[in-house]
Amino acid sequence: ADNSQLALTPPMGFNTWNTFQTNINEQMLKEMVDTYVSSGMRDAGYRYFVLDDGWMTMDRDANGDLVADPKKFPHGMKAFADYVHSKGLKFGIYNCAGDRTCAGYPGTRGHEYQDAHLYASWDVDYLKYDWCNTDSLNAREAYITMSKALKATGRPIVFSLCEWGNHQPWLWGKGVGQLWRSTGDICNQFDKDKNIGAWTALSVMTILDKQDKIRQYAGPGHWNDPDMLEVGNGMSVSEDRAHFSLWCMLAAPLMAGNDLRKMSPQTHEILTNKEAIAVDQDSLGIQGFRFYAFDGLEMWVKPLSKQDVAICFLNRSTHPQNIDYTWEAHVLQDAVSHLNINFTEGEYKVRDLWAKKDLGTTKKAFKQTIASHDVVMLRLHKGN
Ligand code: GLA
Repeated sequence: ADNSQLALTPPMGFNTWNTFQTNINEQMLKEMVDTYVSSGMRDAGYRYFVLDDGWMTMDRDANGDLVADPKKFPHGMKAFADYVHSKGLKFGIYNCAGDRTCAGYPGTRGHEYQDAHLYASWDVDYLKYDWCNTDSLNAREAYITMSKALKATGRPIVFSLCEWGNHQPWLWGKGVGQLWRSTGDICNQFDKDKNIGAWTALSVMTILDKQDKIRQYAGPGHWNDPDMLEVGNGMSVSEDRAHFSLWCMLAAPLMAGNDLRKMSPQTHEILTNKEAIAVDQDSLGIQGFRFYAFDGLEMWVKPLSKQDVAICFLNRSTHPQNIDYTWEAHVLQDAVSHLNINFTEGEYKVRDLWAKKDLGTTKKAFKQTIASHDVVMLRLHKGN
């Protein structure tokens, strides 16, 4: 298959891991699929429904094929995939390049073509491919092998590389897959990493700080993946809003990781904000950058198509901060996209994407107080 046209904008969807880990089953997942549609997630642009680790039995069958756990999926995986497709969604699944997945289920090592064939027979549209229990495997080679196996099926399958940025996948991932994890696993913390025995789960801010230096490697069809969303999983509403806004500024894949059946109105509002999503999904696919940081206050910039610009002010500190920003005093130079945004050369209209209000133009200074751990996200639009 020619996969060069896949994921021209960052993939959007839902993944089971952040809330359910391996505790998944067909009944619960069908409810999730139903809610995906009824809640408006699909209409907001989310497409993939991805099963993470834990969908298999502990052993392959006599033919060496993976088996969907019959207790969790009494009707088999093809029937579940059909259900997902019947709702206008795309279906994703998970495995691992090593001998075993991170949760101990059979990995794909040595079965790449066989597993790819099986997924294609189930009409799988997306594969997340992990990096546990890989011993001395060469990461680039292992991901290339699976990429070739997927392409050989003839079915377009988005390939999500999940080796946590250990082997600089941004240097070789383009053409192998459409997205690659850039860090270890995220957790539902704004700026405090979590020690989980042998490893450390990363806070939203820790992950954010690792994205800037690799932004030149992202673009249409090849994305840095700062991991799945923790919106609705226990942070405050402002922290969730900041997390989501920044992932949009990063042109990150937007994979919801909350229980869609139990979304609060605030979580729903964040995940389905179409104007924020439009920043993420902009056709230029430029990963935004930190333009300045001072005393816990940051300004992020993302050049958009038609000379629009997204701006996100972030308050990382524990107290409210005032912004008084004179647009005309600055030229925003982007070394990666080579776009220079010069506010003296014309007026932009300013729209606040969370307040959903027009705020006048860049002739006027932008003044606002931002609460702790919150953002203001703006879209600047040139012309009419
Ligand atoms: C790794 C990945 C996670 C998740 C788990 C599943 O930790 O990084 O995103 O897929 O494995 O076991």
